[in-house]
Amino acid sequence: MYRNLSDRFSLLAWRTTPPEISWLMAQAIETPGLISLAAGFVDQESLPNEFAAKYMREMFERNRSGQSALQYGTTQGDLVLRQHLIERLAGEGVFHPAAEIDESHVLIGSGSQQILYLAAEAFLDENDIVLLEAPTYFVVLGVFKTRGARTIGIDTDAYGIVPKKVEEVLLQLKAQAKLGRVKMLYVMSYATNPMGITLAFERRRQLLEILQRFRDDGYPILLLEDAAYRRLCFEQPVMPPIKSFEADNDLVLYTESLSKSLSPGIRLGFGVGPKPIIDKMTDIKGNHDFGSANLSQQFLKRMLISREFDAHTEQLRQIYAQKRDAVLQILRETFPAEVEWLNPAGGFYCWITLPSSFDTGPHGAIFQQALKEKVLYVPGCLCYSADRPESRHSSSMRLAYGMIEVEQLQEGCKRLARALERSLSLTT
Ligand SMILES: Cc1ncc(COP(=O)(O)O)c(C=O)c1O
Repeated sequence: MYRNLSDRFSLLAWRTTPPEISWLMAQAIETPGLISLAAGFVDQESLPNEFAAKYMREMFERNRSGQSALQYGTTQGDLVLRQHLIERLAGEGVFHPAAEIDESHVLIGSGSQQILYLAAEAFLDENDIVLLEAPTYFVVLGVFKTRGARTIGIDTDAYGIVPKKVEEVLLQLKAQAKLGRVKMLYVMSYATNPMGITLAFERRRQLLEILQRFRDDGYPILLLEDAAYRRLCFEQPVMPPIKSFEADNDLVLYTESLSKSLSPGIRLGFGVGPKPIIDKMTDIKGNHDFGSANLSQQFLKRMLISREFDAHTEQLRQIYAQKRDAVLQILRETFPAEVEWLNPAGGFYCWITLPSSFDTGPHGAIFQQALKEKVLYVPGCLCYSADRPESRHSSSMRLAYGMIEVEQLQEGCKRLARALERSLSLTT
């Protein structure tokens, strides 16, 4: 007998717990005057309101285009948009010249988050294994957990995930007869979240070569390449993605987000990969929503085809580079000498590390002191998969400088510096 309807939730529902970040966001709302260096929101002032007004007007001026934008689209996404994406990405060197990639290899998703989710649904059963960076994009940890998958965090340094460690872990799993369980390697290749670093050139090739060797041994593993921040790398042109090393379009599913380079409000992203995988994910997406918002896609298509998109991303890079410089300057001026940080290569996250004896976790003294100073950060422990000791004790934190204006950013960093100074002096 059951008391409540909620006792009858599915296994998937039981495995799905509220993300820790919701608690952080609630703190931000409940503490008046708090400066949040935690939220990964984009710069507000540069959101393309004028372009949106222009293209929406253009679209709705004529009944035909307006009404077709208001109609359902296709599950895989607008054909012309997909064709344009392929043309654009090919021009940017995202694909190997020998790889025959066309619009049938693209799936438009409701944010790249949905592409990640669909890939997880397409591949992962309970107890399957995903390898990923340590630290990684914390939201994706929730996706894999919901699927009942086991995540293994791989050592990651200032040059990205370490290929040798990926290989070592795969060989260990082979020795334990668990290789068949490994379905996926999830890697961010540009200005990662949370570390803000870009995967080194040689490592891109090495990661692919390792997976190709395992494939040739009878163990194909999907390489899920998340390039969410590629267009926000400060140094352009960027190095080629992992996808570009693959001549046979066989193992790499490349994803990009339009949230960071255009607008999170339109909720669009896309994946490009092997046809059977795109087809399967499209079938699954049919069960979710039979297509991402057509209206958003029609706007995106117009924006991408005009050259205004490129000018817009150039402007965004300048804005975030200025914010990054302001943050780094204030860190240099105010943070205690024991604190270290990585120089963000793009995007809007800065990864800070304290001496290893300190705990930056949500229940530790530093976090509480930061709250007293009315500043919020993302504790590093949230960014580690459960198998890593850092998921229980981490001395790192992520600062986000996307949405907040420079003056507030500087004030937030000063408050954090005071909190750190106080916590460090209390324990030394
Ligand atoms: C690394 C990374 N990948 C994917 C996403 C998902 O972005 P969206 O669904 O808005 O495209 C994010 C969002 O913050 C991210 O940081």
